[in-house]
Amino acid sequence: MDFQPTEEQLAVRDTAREIAERLLLPRAAARDLSGEFPLAEMKELAKLGLLGISVPEALGGAEMGPVAYSLALQELGRGDAAVAVTVSVTNMVAELIAKYGTAAIAQQWVPRLVSGELVAGAFGLSEPQAGSDVAGLRTMATRTANGWRLDGNKQWITSGDHAGVLVVWALTEPALGHKGVTAFVVPGGTPGLTVARLEEKLGLHGSSTAQLVLDGVEIGADQVLGEVGGGFALAMMALDGGRIGIASQAVGIARGALEAAIRYALDRETFGQPIIKHQAVGNMLADAATWLDAATLMTLRAAYAKQQQQPFAQLAAMAKLFATEHAWKICDIALQVHGGYGYVRDFPVERALRDVRATRIYEGTSEIQRLVIARNLLR
Ligand code: CAA
Repeated sequence: MDFQPTEEQLAVRDTAREIAERLLLPRAAARDLSGEFPLAEMKELAKLGLLGISVPEALGGAEMGPVAYSLALQELGRGDAAVAVTVSVTNMVAELIAKYGTAAIAQQWVPRLVSGELVAGAFGLSEPQAGSDVAGLRTMATRTANGWRLDGNKQWITSGDHAGVLVVWALTEPALGHKGVTAFVVPGGTPGLTVARLEEKLGLHGSSTAQLVLDGVEIGADQVLGEVGGGFALAMMALDGGRIGIASQAVGIARGALEAAIRYALDRETFGQPIIKHQAVGNMLADAATWLDAATLMTLRAAYAKQQQQPFAQLAAMAKLFATEHAWKICDIALQVHGGYGYVRDFPVERALRDVRATRIYEGTSEIQRLVIARNLLR
C-alpha cells in the first residue's frame, strides 16, 4: 500500500504546524494550569479550514480526506493535546452529520461547525454504566407527536458543556438491544439538556469533559441520523474513523515529547559530555524514535485505507492500540531523560505524560482495540 502523502496533504500539515507553533504551543502550559477551553483557538483553526479537512466541500469543508486530516491532527497534538481532542471530536460529529443527516440537517449544522460559528461538536454515546460495553446504554428515545423525546444520562462527553451541536445515542426499541439504538442530532442549549458535572482530569485540562442529563429533550423527527434502529453500527463506524484521530493525536504528543528529550539530552552534560552520548540515554531515545516512526506509519496507513474507501476498522484499531501505548512509553522515556527536571512544570514532558494517558482510554480503551482486532482475526 503506497501511502506517501501528496503535496496538497503536506501543505495542510504545514498550515497546521505553523498555527500550532504560533498559537498553540506558546499557550499550552498556561492552558494546562487554567483549564481554559480553547474557544479562540478553535475559531482561528476554523479560519484556516482546519475544522473541515475531511468534510465535503458542499458543506463548507476542504474535502481533503483522512490522510491530510491525520497529518494536521498530529501537528495540533504536538502543539496542544487538549485542542487536538476538541478538534478530533468536532470532526467526528461533522463527518457523521454530513454523511447520515438529511440534506437539510447537514446544511443546518455542518457548515457552522466547520466555520467555527459553533464551537464545538460533542459525541453523546457513553453513559455512566455503558462505556466499553456501549450496547448497554439506557438513554431512552420516546416518540412524540412531532418527533422524539430523549431522557437519560451521558458520561465522559468531550466538549459537552460547550457543544453547539451533539450527536446523542438512545434506545428507540429497548427489547432489540443494539438493534434498538438510534442516533439523534441535538442542538446545544435544547431545553432539558443540562450539564450535571465537569470532570477534573489528570491531563487535557483545556478540553472539557462533561456529564450530561437529558430530561425531556424534545427534538424533531428529521433529527434522526441514518435509520431508526441503525445507530449502533453508525457509532461503530464513526469510532473507526475517530480512532485514527486519537492515534494521530498520540503521535503528535509523543513527537513533541521526544523532540524535547533530544533537545535536553544534547544540552545537558554529565560526566563531561552531553547525556545523549551516554549509551543508556541514546538507547532509550533510539527505542522511542523507532516506536514513533512505526506509530506514524500505522496511523497514516489506516488513514490512507479510509481515504481509498477500503476496509479500515482493523487498521484503525491496530494504529490506535500501537500509537497510544507507545506514545505513553515515549513520553515516559522523555520524562526519564530529563531526570528531576522532567517531573516539574518548567519542562513540557510532565504535561505530555499526563495528556497522553487519556489516549489509551477514550474512543475505545486499548483492551477494546485488542478485542476488535482479535474478533477480526477470527473472521
Ligand atoms: N462498523 C460497522 N458495524 C459494526 C462495527 C464496525 N466497526 N463493529 C460492530 N458492528 C456491528 C456488527 O456487525 C453487529 O451488527 P449486526 O447486529 O447487524 O450483526 C453490531 O454492530 C454489534 O456488533 P458486536 O456484536 O461486535 O457488538 P458488541 O456489543 O460486542 O460491542 C465493541 C462491540 C467493539 C466492544 C463496541 O461496544 C465498542 O466499540 N466499545 C467501545 C466504545 C467506545 O469506543 N467508546 C468511546 C466513546 S466516544 C469517545 O471517547 C469520544 C471522546 O469524547 C473522546
